[in-house]
Amino acid sequence: RLDFTKETGIGPADRQGEFGPDERRLMEDIQGNILKSHGRDHSRHLFIRFDRERPGKARAWLATMADQVTTAMAQWEQSRKRAAIFAAVGLGPVGAPLSAELGDGPRVSTGVKVGPFGGHNGPDGPDGHKRRTAPEVRLSAALAEDPSPPFVNLMLSASGYQALGITDLPQDEAFRRGTRGTATLAKLCDPPVSEWHEGFQGAIDALVIVADDSPAEVQEKADAVAGALLRAGAGKVVHEEIGKVLRTHPHGPVREHFGFIDGVSEPHFLTKDIEEAKKEQGYEKWHPGAPLHLVLAKDPGGHAETGYGSYFVYRKLEQDVPHFNRQRLKLATELAKADGRAEPHEGDIELAGAYMVGRFRNGVPVSQPATGAGDDAPIANDFDFLGDKDGLKCPYQAHIRKTNPRGDTTWQFNGSLEKERNRRIARRGISYESDGGVGLLFLCAQADISRQFEFMQADWCNDVDFICGGEDGKPSTGQDPIVGCGHADTPMNWPKKHGVPGEMLSVSLAESVTLRGAEYFFLPSRGFLKTAR
Ligand code: HEM
Repeated sequence: RLDFTKETGIGPADRQGEFGPDERRLMEDIQGNILKSHGRDHSRHLFIRFDRERPGKARAWLATMADQVTTAMAQWEQSRKRAAIFAAVGLGPVGAPLSAELGDGPRVSTGVKVGPFGGHNGPDGPDGHKRRTAPEVRLSAALAEDPSPPFVNLMLSASGYQALGITDLPQDEAFRRGTRGTATLAKLCDPPVSEWHEGFQGAIDALVIVADDSPAEVQEKADAVAGALLRAGAGKVVHEEIGKVLRTHPHGPVREHFGFIDGVSEPHFLTKDIEEAKKEQGYEKWHPGAPLHLVLAKDPGGHAETGYGSYFVYRKLEQDVPHFNRQRLKLATELAKADGRAEPHEGDIELAGAYMVGRFRNGVPVSQPATGAGDDAPIANDFDFLGDKDGLKCPYQAHIRKTNPRGDTTWQFNGSLEKERNRRIARRGISYESDGGVGLLFLCAQADISRQFEFMQADWCNDVDFICGGEDGKPSTGQDPIVGCGHADTPMNWPKKHGVPGEMLSVSLAESVTLRGAEYFFLPSRGFLKTAR
């Protein structure tokens, strides 16, 4: 009875309100982390292989997990409590979308200087060493007392369903095809499986995500899950990844390893989040709302009315930070030369990075760098590129323009905005750092993997002629300088001077991100888990 096509969200407009009865039934049946990021700072990803000889034991174990996964409703209740904790220590409630997205808690000042080409939030920037304020110390103590259990997700791969002896698999074609076959590798330009981290080379049947703000709680719960799996004779954990959110300063915005604020632009599914985003960031140019059908797909083994799940794409993406810095410096040096200087200064380096990502390190969009209002200003998300059809401010290949063209397909290909918006994904990744390297455990939720993630990666990020180029003698756009693959030698075009028409700079940049493993999952409904036995 719920309308899955409306973009105004479900649930109350604020934290105090209540869900309608149909909404509540859905929220109690679907898992958390689909409609909204779980927002915890630490997580463990347990990759599981079931015992192929004993599918009955694996199904019985799944049934025991029904009461352990965090439902969307439980996530909502827990975030209410967390907001109260933030408020009690004097850090809220502000409830801006940014930190609501990042931490399910109210927002605290980003502490980021927002200027045209400013911002120093790199790993070695001064913000990383900010002294913690008294409320932040009180907040950590209060969160440590938070009685909420760790957050838990459970998802299955196509091989997982087969190992369980379940023939009625979720429908998605890409999900059934999987990540390791030549068709998928070729489509996405992924390296051969033999080059992946060995933990991803063999079949993975299931993934359990355990997350909390306390790493000790995460470990305790993860150990309990792995132990129960073994004792049940259902299978074993064959690989593990540890995720850790990086922040510009404690409780500040999330950043990723290249030093850029991340997790800013997200489709919102809950009315409260849409309303907050509209209030904080506006929605004249870019509406933050998204319909349920963007992320929810029917769970074939679930309840007839409320049984929905979501497809999750998992990609371990290693980031070579020194290499990225060298690419950025290469572009900055060319920008300096175009300006008649032999050496780049800091502004050139900042601008080069912003051209590559589409936002400065402090989150300010490069298409409109003059909008930063001050330290506490929410990071802008109400923008599109219609005023920059020549790519003079935000190059066509910039990561955020490739992955969310914000209407570019309407003027370039006469496409429909609705169709373009239907390709959006809900990003749910987390950074990692290990002896072997650093990177992003990229995760995204969607209702259709080929329409959403695969199209975004293959037809937008990797395609050198998207959004412009190739025909009418126009030079190719080039691949996404952050995650594009296969065409690093195709030159990209960069404005010599930000926003100024004229000759473009033609510079190719080599790739700094490498895929180390991938899997497609379905996050089933709680009803399915209960009856899996
Ligand atoms: C946005 C970094 C991988 C899709 C962003 C932003 C950064 C970033 C800094 C801007 C902040 C924001 O708008 O939230 C990275 C890094 C990656 C990576 C370092 C790899 C290590 C990917 C992949 C995809 C993707 C593989 C999908 C193919 C997106 C989307 C946005 C985004 C959809 C939001 C664009 C918008 O709505 O404006 N990413 N990203 N990212 N990224 Fe990535």
